Amino acid sequence: MQAQEQAQVNCSTKTKYDCWKNGVLVDADQAVVSIYDHGLLYGDGCFEGLRFYHRQPFRLDRHLARLRRSLSALMITIPYSDDTLTEAVMACITRSDMVDGYLRILVTRGEGDMGLNPLNCTTPEVFIIPASLSLVSETVCRQGASLITSSIKRAVGTGLDARVKSLNYLHSILARVEANTAGVDEAILLNQFGYVAECSAENIFVVKAGALLTPSAQDGALEGITRETILELASLQKLEAREQSLTSYDLYTAEECFICGSGARLIPVKIIDGRQIAQCLGPVYLALSRAYQALIDDECGGEMS
Ligand SMILES: Cc1ncc(COP(=O)(O)O)c(C=O)c1O
Repeated sequence: MQAQEQAQVNCSTKTKYDCWKNGVLVDADQAVVSIYDHGLLYGDGCFEGLRFYHRQPFRLDRHLARLRRSLSALMITIPYSDDTLTEAVMACITRSDMVDGYLRILVTRGEGDMGLNPLNCTTPEVFIIPASLSLVSETVCRQGASLITSSIKRAVGTGLDARVKSLNYLHSILARVEANTAGVDEAILLNQFGYVAECSAENIFVVKAGALLTPSAQDGALEGITRETILELASLQKLEAREQSLTSYDLYTAEECFICGSGARLIPVKIIDGRQIAQCLGPVYLALSRAYQALIDDECGGEMS
């Protein structure tokens, strides 16, 4: 039921806004790639997803820094400085006329040929795509999300590092298909050693013995900007918070659990694999949620609530 509600909410992303493509603002229908683009043919590229509030991008500097790390790992060079990308982001926000919204910054290795050798791709394609993304239904935010553990693994140390936010999201998509099939809201991916990595598009936190715990990048977590922000807010609140390897047992027996990401923000978790989480909405989640909203208002110039 909740999964169906989410699908309906997702339909709101269908509105098209003008995009930035390689230095120019263009109609969304003109923001296209060649069928020989290696991003399309092979998932060869990387991206960032961030939100803007009160017409100001939230933590854009950190998203650009992570984009640079992904580009560097993939050996893709783009001819745009952070200042240029920041101006482009601001131009997209202004043109969209949205006060609050979502932005995708996306880089493909560009046009090559049917062979996968990246040497044939000389010019990367860089896009900024605005959207009015609503990922999570009101019901899930109010009552908590139901999660399952996916059979799909977030492999570590076997190839592509989980810290690269690449265009290849098939493991996440397959995990999400399992969640849809099971009629729940999200899926948790373990790594091949059985340790919790993250969800299909969010990082995960638990509260155990009063401490806030989250898996490390070594266990397969993306270095999420929201995750980093939550760790900083926890430290400001003098809450013990650290990275720690977690098993399914740790999730089932947690005092609280929540998931977070730029798109979804903070989502409380009420059920994992049929086990009820002790507290949902718990005090740590509530305090961090309030602090997160206050930080957004502070950094993006809105009203304190
Ligand atoms: C796999 C995955 N993990 C975690 C996150 C959360 O990262 P962030 O807080 O930077 O949005 C995302 C966001 O898209 C993601 O795709």
